[in-house]
Amino acid sequence: MVTGVKMCSPIRTELLLSLFLLSLDALDCKYTPRVILPATGEGYVRYEFPRPQEHIVFLHGQEEGTIYVGGQNKLFNINFKSLNQSTVIPLPLEVPTGYKGRCYVTVLHRYNDSHLFVCGTDGESPQCYLMTDTWNSSEKVNPAGISPFSTTEKAPSLFVEGELYTTSRLYKEGNGKDLRRSWGVKKKVWMHDKSKKDPKYIAITSVSRKEDPLKDKIYTFFQEKNPDTSPDADPWISRVAQVCKVDQGGSRSILHSMWTSFLKARLACGVPSENMFYNRLEEAYVLHAENWTDSRVYGVFSSAWNMTAICIYSMEEIDSVFTHSKFQGYSGVIPNPRPGTCVDNSQALKDDVLKVAKDHPEMSDWIHPIVKAAPFMISDRRYRKIQVDRVTVPGQKPHNVLLLATESGLIHKVLEVNHSPFIIAEIHPFKSESHIQSMILDSTTKKLYVGSHYEVVAIDLQNCEQYGDGCEQCILSRDPYCGWSNNKCTKAERGAVQHVEDGDHSQCTQIPKFEHYRSQRGNPEDQELKSIAPLSVPYFLSCPMTSHHASHSWHHNNRTIDCHLSKSDCLLLIEGMKPDLYGKYQCFAEEKGYQWLVTEYRLVPSSGTTALSSKVQVLGSIILLVGLIL
Ligand SMILES: *[C@@H]1O[C@H](CO)[C@@H](O)[C@H](O)[C@H]1NC(C)=O
Ligand SMILES: *[C@@H]1O[C@H](CO)[C@@H](O)[C@H](O)[C@H]1NC(C)=O
Ligand SMILES: *[C@@H]1O[C@H](CO)[C@@H](O)[C@H](O)[C@H]1NC(C)=O
Ligand SMILES: *[C@@H]1O[C@H](CO)[C@@H](O)[C@H](O)[C@H]1NC(C)=O
Ligand SMILES: *[C@@H]1O[C@H](CO)[C@@H](O)[C@H](O)[C@H]1NC(C)=O
Ligand SMILES: *[C@@H]1O[C@H](CO)[C@@H](O)[C@H](O)[C@H]1NC(C)=O
Repeated sequence: MVTGVKMCSPIRTELLLSLFLLSLDALDCKYTPRVILPATGEGYVRYEFPRPQEHIVFLHGQEEGTIYVGGQNKLFNINFKSLNQSTVIPLPLEVPTGYKGRCYVTVLHRYNDSHLFVCGTDGESPQCYLMTDTWNSSEKVNPAGISPFSTTEKAPSLFVEGELYTTSRLYKEGNGKDLRRSWGVKKKVWMHDKSKKDPKYIAITSVSRKEDPLKDKIYTFFQEKNPDTSPDADPWISRVAQVCKVDQGGSRSILHSMWTSFLKARLACGVPSENMFYNRLEEAYVLHAENWTDSRVYGVFSSAWNMTAICIYSMEEIDSVFTHSKFQGYSGVIPNPRPGTCVDNSQALKDDVLKVAKDHPEMSDWIHPIVKAAPFMISDRRYRKIQVDRVTVPGQKPHNVLLLATESGLIHKVLEVNHSPFIIAEIHPFKSESHIQSMILDSTTKKLYVGSHYEVVAIDLQNCEQYGDGCEQCILSRDPYCGWSNNKCTKAERGAVQHVEDGDHSQCTQIPKFEHYRSQRGNPEDQELKSIAPLSVPYFLSCPMTSHHASHSWHHNNRTIDCHLSKSDCLLLIEGMKPDLYGKYQCFAEEKGYQWLVTEYRLVPSSGTTALSSKVQVLGSIILLVGLIL
């Protein structure tokens, strides 16, 4: 077995400090992406906007492989299966005369098979329409409380069973940020003023219970002002709130047209034993399951000291706090039905129930993640978008994969396994660093759409060939989308070899050797590179790190040479070429007991005729080397 140099986690000191509080084994490869996938690779389809878009909103299209993108006065209907069939629909969002602003789409929902629900704003006066996607038929809708006034304001909304639930402010000035049932057939209902303190809404979702539809609920996730105003308390805390879909508001005297089932609880994410919490919810994704009790909430939190944490909650646990916790500040007898219970006719609820619901909507108990002791993942990356996919391969255990976008436009593909993260890959979707404005996952086609100001990129999550040509490399990737079958690393289907739990590649040895490598590309051993190195000049060889979890080393004349690590290569440095340094150089990688040859060179002395050209080459390589090391 070779030993070599392993590059795991050049973690910043702050992260190190906070990791230290968690566990000493955190310095393994847990926080280092195993592979880096550059934008120049395969597996991307790009759609460039005719002009840069300052603000975009995504919606899944009707047909497979299509998405709608709401932009500046336009709706793009992008077909990634056949880009030339994409269309651009101009939106007649009216800009008031004399106002120089431009209109951007803020809200985009599917209403029914033929109609979309679209809102836009110029920063002053939002407008909403019910329209076909060819815009040959449209109907104006009152935008009050549906569309935010500015594109910088987050106001998630949700269409469910023809009803629109919104969180936008009602008036341009002042607050009025409520969770409301704003539009549809059912009675309009909003929040009691005392129920919230300057909320910033992050996400909204609907949870249906097939066995008991009366208990269908809407949940919102938000930040609000911390009631604890002591100087060392974070000014913000995070919450989840519930309301029942059947809720029609209270009686004539109490909570008339206001939620009677509104309850909120604190979402805790941190290390309770250290009293260290990540208080600010930035993004949330709800992974819905067939049975609602199995649904999971993934929250991305930030801290006052700019670290990010991800916590995973169970929907059943959230519901359990709302059904069993004490009411904050209330010590009387809990009335019957318990406030927050979904009832057929909320307008007939008795005063004692409505009073508790109105005055004490906060739960005493906090909602803790599934693993209470510590967040699922912490990072010094500023993750700002999240989608989660459930990957099911027939014959294998299902696995959840988190897709996290950093502020600087990188995607981390993270496996959730035994309550621990494994960063499968860092994906660079854009050729130059760009801010990710929007991201949605199509779980059916396993495509992730990410949008910057300039383009929308469809990322193929099943682009498996990039893990390498061998069975072991395929298994070591631990990518649940991928498996080894038919001589290649490919989209995992029944019978494919994979070992997502811990990358155990022992099954590969049972596969006949000739099926072990992809025949087309051959074995790297056939690809020795010859390099001319004149005497006494410095020289270097570079070996690309295909896996950042592997140890790399160079071998020459039975000697093992540790490498100098650059960002993505294991470098062999020769200060001055000597006769005994000529010959064969092999770079090996070793990971989990599997060793493979990455690259191979033969250094040969220059002969008279090639002296000049090799000098040029050496000069070039020194310049390149300086660049690589810096
Ligand atoms: C669109 O492009 C495909 C090839 O990518 C081509 O086969 C097809 O004819 C094009 N369709 C149109 C309408 O231009
Ligand atoms: C969708 O809703 C619009 C507006 O209410 C209506 O005109 C249209 O017929 C509906 N389409 C379908 C397919 O139900
Ligand atoms: C709008 O266009 C669609 C398809 O182009 C067509 O099916 C529909 O009948 C049109 N509706 C109206 C009201 O013209
Ligand atoms: C959902 O799961 C819970 C807990 O595992 C179980 O009690 C319940 O019967 C399940 N419901 C359905 C509809 O399968
Ligand atoms: C956190 O990041 C923000 C934005 O990058 C910056 O303005 C702020 O100073 C940072 N705070 C700390 C404590 O580093
Ligand atoms: C490397 O080691 C082997 C066995 O130990 C030996 O036979 C061989 O001559 C050595 N090669 C060199 C170049 O020293």
